[in-house]
Amino acid sequence: MTQAAGIAVAGAGLIGRKHISAIGQTEGAARLTAIADPGDPARELAAELGVPWFADISSLLEKARPDGLVIATPNQSHVENGLEAIAAGVPALIEKPVAIGSEEGERLVLAGEAAGVPLLAGHHRRYNPLIEKAKALVSEGRLGQVVSVSVMGWLFKPADYFAPEWRRQPGAGPVYTNLIHDIDLMQHLCGPVERVSCFSSNRTRGHAVEDSAVISFAFANGALGTANVSDTAVAPWSWELTARENPVYPPTGEACYLIGGTHGSLELPSLKLWHQAGTRSWWEPIDASQQAYSFEDPLVRQMRHFAGVIRGTEAPRVTARDGLQALRVIEAILQSARDGVPVMVSG
Ligand SMILES: NC(=O)c1ccc[n+]([C@@H]2O[C@H](COP(=O)([O-])OP(=O)(O)OC[C@H]3O[C@@H](n4cnc5c(N)ncnc54)[C@H](O)[C@@H]3O)[C@@H](O)[C@H]2O)c1
Repeated sequence: MTQAAGIAVAGAGLIGRKHISAIGQTEGAARLTAIADPGDPARELAAELGVPWFADISSLLEKARPDGLVIATPNQSHVENGLEAIAAGVPALIEKPVAIGSEEGERLVLAGEAAGVPLLAGHHRRYNPLIEKAKALVSEGRLGQVVSVSVMGWLFKPADYFAPEWRRQPGAGPVYTNLIHDIDLMQHLCGPVERVSCFSSNRTRGHAVEDSAVISFAFANGALGTANVSDTAVAPWSWELTARENPVYPPTGEACYLIGGTHGSLELPSLKLWHQAGTRSWWEPIDASQQAYSFEDPLVRQMRHFAGVIRGTEAPRVTARDGLQALRVIEAILQSARDGVPVMVSG
């Protein structure tokens, strides 16, 4: 059996602990070697798991010398932490957003590419088998040419979610926090987004950051799309509440993405493929076939892949450059909301 990749985790908070759990589920592809996080709960966790604990990443890299590093620290630290990993020659899986601004993100990506150190972005939804199936259907031309997509991201975050000040400030909000994952998936399935236009509102919650936004986007290939997001709407239509990826969200069985093509349409996450057996016409019946896939936790699949990248047996699937491209679209959306005009996506 191949030797397990020794992976350390920096930032053992909400998602860092999920990564730690994922490492344990890779069936020997990876093993946890150390944790870096200045907090007492992280120190206690390291003791519980019997791995070395470090207050900061540079000591971890110097002393534990891991084969790979998961960076699950707050957004503001990702670039600095990523650059440390690159300097140590250690491949990193960096949580989204890879940076809080695209200039900084570009600096990180270029440094990784120049040093030949692989950097993955934590857009784990891409490793969901249902997205792999959707990608295959689109690539095989089962929808014909993609014409338009519709993304729904309505959910309700309770008051205690907003207790930390940063969650009420620009840089948080449903666009930065949630939509960035949806944008990554739409670009993965339908190609790069070229231009966006956005109206946003903070009318309901009254925070400095938006609680709701509607966005139009144009893909470079000519397809169009809309996204409609809110964290203050009690509703069943969002990836979180439909994809059954994370058991903390009670699933609803509704759809959140519709992808329309000249020869068929796809509904996700249900994977219903709508098509017409005979003449394509609004006067003819249209049928849905349920496409099959078997679920496996995308975080575990992402970790197994990271282990393969570290060993050099797999090419990086979701790179920091992909994460940067999603970030650029998010920046354009927020700029459009601020300036009241359509904005071209940079890069
Ligand atoms: N992929 C996803 O679905 C997903 C989900 C949640 C969060 N995230 C991302 O993961 C990151 C962490 O989010 P979270 O919700 O787990 O936050 P969190 O606040 O729960 O955890 C962050 C942890 O990092 C530690 N930390 C802070 N500075 C550090 C440093 N310099 N070095 C080491 N540790 C440090 C903190 O003590 C804390 O334990 C964010 O970038 C967030 O956007 C991604």
